[in-house]
Amino acid sequence: MPDQDLYPVPPEWAKRARVDATGYEKLYGRSLADPGSFWLEQARRLDWIKRPEIAGDWSFAEKDFRIQWFADGKLNVAANCLDRHLAKRGDQIALIWEPDEPGEEPRRFTYRELHAEVCRFANVLKDQGARRGDRVTIYMPMIPEAAFAILACARIGAIHSVVFGGFSPEALAGRITDCDSAFLVTADEGRRGGKRIPLKANVDAAAERAPALKTVIVVKATSGAVTMHEGRDIWYHEAAESVPATCSPEPMGAEDPLFILYTSGSTGQPKGVLHTSGGYLLWASLTHELAFDYRPGDVWWCAADIGWVTGHSYILYGPLANGATTLMFEGLPTWPDASRIWQVVDRHKVHTIFTAPTALRALMKEGDSFVAATSRQSLKLLGTVGEPINPEAWRWYYDVVGEGRCPIIDTWWQTETGGAMIAPMPGATDLKPGSATKPMPGVDPQLVDTEGEVLQGATSGNLVIAKSWPGQMRTVWGDHNRFFQTYFTTYPGKYFTGDGALRDEDGYWWITGRVDDVINVSGHRMGTAEVESALVLHPMVAEAAVVGMPHDIKGQGIYAYVTLNSGETASSDLRAELVKWVRAEIGPIAAPDKLQFAPGLPKTRSGKIMRRILRKIAEGDVSSLGDTSTLADPSVVDDLVANRVV
Ligand code: WTA
Repeated sequence: MPDQDLYPVPPEWAKRARVDATGYEKLYGRSLADPGSFWLEQARRLDWIKRPEIAGDWSFAEKDFRIQWFADGKLNVAANCLDRHLAKRGDQIALIWEPDEPGEEPRRFTYRELHAEVCRFANVLKDQGARRGDRVTIYMPMIPEAAFAILACARIGAIHSVVFGGFSPEALAGRITDCDSAFLVTADEGRRGGKRIPLKANVDAAAERAPALKTVIVVKATSGAVTMHEGRDIWYHEAAESVPATCSPEPMGAEDPLFILYTSGSTGQPKGVLHTSGGYLLWASLTHELAFDYRPGDVWWCAADIGWVTGHSYILYGPLANGATTLMFEGLPTWPDASRIWQVVDRHKVHTIFTAPTALRALMKEGDSFVAATSRQSLKLLGTVGEPINPEAWRWYYDVVGEGRCPIIDTWWQTETGGAMIAPMPGATDLKPGSATKPMPGVDPQLVDTEGEVLQGATSGNLVIAKSWPGQMRTVWGDHNRFFQTYFTTYPGKYFTGDGALRDEDGYWWITGRVDDVINVSGHRMGTAEVESALVLHPMVAEAAVVGMPHDIKGQGIYAYVTLNSGETASSDLRAELVKWVRAEIGPIAAPDKLQFAPGLPKTRSGKIMRRILRKIAEGDVSSLGDTSTLADPSVVDDLVANRVV
C-alpha cells in the first residue's frame, strides 16, 4: 500500500463548500441507487430548448450495445455557455487571455463581448458554407480566436475537431482525412516561449495530403509572412468585417455530435473520440462545479492546451457553462523563467489553477525561490490532471505553492470520459498525496483481474467502469465497431479504461498508470504503435519497438529499439536523423528520448515481440528479465542489455 499520509478537510472548507462529507455520501449513493431521477434533476443545470424526460439509456452488452443520455432533449451548447448568462452576468469577464510575452497587455472579454465574437465567427463559418454536422478542423495557437472558433462550431451545430498545434503536417493531414473535414481554422503563426510555430505553413503542407480540405480560414495572430492560396484560403479579419454580431443558435438534439478529438490508443492510428452535446456539457459543468467547488466570481485557470480534452472541458465548456471567468494562457510555465505561472496567478488574482504533474516537476527542479518571489494569496485550490502525481510533487505543490492553505484536487479521467471521474471535493474528501481519492456521482469504478473477475476490498487490478455516465464518449468517428472492440470486449459488459489502479482500505483510488501499450509523456498520451509506424516509414529501418521508461520530469519517456535493413550501418548521425524523422512525422511530443540500434528484437517463436523484456531493459532493470527461454533467439537479449542506451 502507498504512503497513507492524510490531509483532512480543513474545517472552513467543510463549512462553506457546496458538498461536505455527508453530502458526498448522499449524492453518490443516490446517483447509483436512482440514476433516472438523479440525472434528470442534474439536467436542470442546463438550459434546454426541450427538457429531456429520459436520462440514461445504455447497455455495454454486445447484443444491445448503445449509449444515450437525455436523448429526447434539445439544446444548444454555445447558448448554454454564452446566451443564458447575458441577462445576469453580461458584463462579467468570461475570458481572460494572457499572452506569451509577459510585457504584453492581456485581452479580456465579457460574456457580452464573447457572445458577439462567437456569433461573428459563426457567421463567417456559415458564409463559407459550413453547416450543421460538417466537420471543422481547428489547428490554432492558444489565442482567444481558438475559443471563438470552437464555440462558433457549437453554435451552428458543426462538429469541431481540434488538432493540437504541436502536431506535424503529416499528423494533421491524417486527422483531416479521417473525419473528411472540408473546413479548417488556423492562424498565420503560433507563439510559445518566445518561439514561433508556422501553423499556416504546416496547414499548406498538410493540405497536399488531405484532398478533403476545401476552405482554410486564417486568423492573423503574429502578422508573420504566409502564402494565401486563391480559392481556398481566406483571412478571418476580412471575412468578419461585414458579418453581423448575432447568430441564432442551432437547436441540437442532446445526442447530436459536438466534437471529435483524436487520441492515441494501444493499436493503430489515433481514434476520433466522439462526444455529443447534452451529456458531455452536463458532465463538464457538473464536475467543474463539484471537484473545484466553483463559485460565481472565481477566476479559474486551466493551464492545459485547448488541443487536449482538458482544454475542451475545463478551459471552455465546463467553466463557461457555469458562468466562470476562465483564463487562457498562450505561453509556457517556465518562460521567461520559472516564476511566470505564479506571476500570472498574481496578475489576474486566480483562485484555482489546474495543471499537470509534469509542469510541477519541471518547476520544482528550478527551486522554490521562483515561487517565493510571488504572492499567490488569491489561490484557494490547486488542481492536477493527466498522469499520476508523485507524492514529492504533490507535497511541493501543497507546501510551497499553496503554503498549506489550498487543498489539492487530483482528477483522474480520460479523453473518452469527457470530464473528471475520480477526484476529491474540497469540502468532503480528506486527501492522500498521490491518490485521486473517490469517484464522482454516477461513476462506478471496479477492479478486475486479467480474467475479468471483479476484485473486492483493498487490492490492485485493472480499472473498469461498470455503468455509463453522461460524459462518456459515444463512438469512434467512422468506426463504431472499433469503439466496441476497444473498450467493451476485454472485460465484457464493462468499460475498460486501459489503466491499472489500487483501492486501499479506505476505498481510496490510486491510479498506477497504463496497463496497455500507451505511454504518458508529460501528461500527453502517445501510442507506442504510432511511434513504431513512424520509425518504420524511414527507408533504412526494418523494424522498431517502442516502450515507455521512467523520466524525472516527463513521467514517462520514449525508448525506441530500431533494427536497420541489412546493409545499413548504425551511427550517432543516423540516430539523430531518426529522432528528427519522428518529430517531423508526428510532432515533437513523440520524439524518442533514447534510441537503441538492435540487431534483433526479442520475439516468441510465433513472432510476437516480448515487450516486457524491452521495458525492463529500458528501465535499466536487467537483473530480472524473467524467463527468456521461450524466445526464438534468446541471444538477442544479451546484445540488447550490452548496448542499452543510458
Ligand atoms: C492518465 C487526460 C493518474 C491515465 C485527462 C489516463 C492520470 C490517461 C490522471 C488519459 C490522474 C489522467 N492520475 N493518471 N489524475 N489523469 N491520467 O486521454 O493513464 O489525455 O488513462 O486525458 O492519462 O489521458 P488523456
